[in-house]
Amino acid sequence: MVAQTSSQKYAGTAPVPDRLAAYTPSLAIKLAVLYQGQGDSLPFQQLAERLGVPLYLSPNNDSPEDYFLSWRDGCLKLLDCRACSRQAGGIHTIHGDKELLKKGGLAVDIEPRNGEQRSWPAPKDGALAQALGRKTRTVVDATTGWGQDSLHIFRMGYELLCIERSPVMAELLTDGFARLAQQDWMRRLNLQPPRLLQGNAIDLLADLESQPDCIYLDPMFPPKRKKSALAKKSMMVLRDLLGDDQDKEQLFEAALKTAGKRVVVKSPDYAEPLGGKPSQSFQGKLLRYDVYLKG
Ligand SMILES: C[S@@+](CC[C@H](N)C(=O)[O-])C[C@H]1O[C@@H](n2cnc3c(N)ncnc32)[C@H](O)[C@@H]1O
Repeated sequence: MVAQTSSQKYAGTAPVPDRLAAYTPSLAIKLAVLYQGQGDSLPFQQLAERLGVPLYLSPNNDSPEDYFLSWRDGCLKLLDCRACSRQAGGIHTIHGDKELLKKGGLAVDIEPRNGEQRSWPAPKDGALAQALGRKTRTVVDATTGWGQDSLHIFRMGYELLCIERSPVMAELLTDGFARLAQQDWMRRLNLQPPRLLQGNAIDLLADLESQPDCIYLDPMFPPKRKKSALAKKSMMVLRDLLGDDQDKEQLFEAALKTAGKRVVVKSPDYAEPLGGKPSQSFQGKLLRYDVYLKG
């Protein structure tokens, strides 16, 4: 595919590729890859081809996209263009959202979170580690999203497999895990980043090579209020891009069938437990980890 400007490419709304439409049937996702002369254009072309979305040299007034994917500062980033201002002359400048301009978009953050130890393995403490259980060694994160829980689990030294069904999020994760592999401490300790499978975990869990001790689920629950001031930007974008996970009950059933010892479900504190009364619950900040032990 040759890089094309939007005026060459479109008159009207971008088609939603089947792969994207399949799991977000009610959403008209408009996404493109943006190449603005950042070196070799081939990775941008290949990314656009893999996702079945257009490639722009520069977006203009006609471009119907809400989001762009682009490499900036060595990271693959998701730019939220709903916040872009459309200027005279047709050129979008991605500056409407001051927060995003400062950060230059959203990427998978591979840095430890505040209060999380940098060394590996970090101590297995806190509500998440309690929920995963002292005897757990192998974990499947079946709802990887931005990978923040996965990376926390990985840094605590669990053997981890990640699953994510959104091809867009899988691309962002692949980029984040590749950056993780290049970190000094990962190389020094000869560690490999977690393996990532792209697809629906409801299907993939049935075909795992070996049974994990624990399956971790953090599906998207409907928000309590329409707009929560507490919701993080990254999660708001994820909700906008993917919608609520309507099939979380089926995912829970698949996880319970597959897990060797337990299923852990992260829920907002206002939500009903996904699988009925849990065996144990651990309280985090505004959230709960519900644990379902296998008999
Ligand atoms: C709330 S986010 C998870 C956030 C994640 N725990 C983090 O720390 O960034 C839910 C994610 O799970 C994914 N997901 C939901 N159901 C899934 C399924 N059945 N198979 C694979 N991925 C799924 C969604 O695409 C979305 O990216």
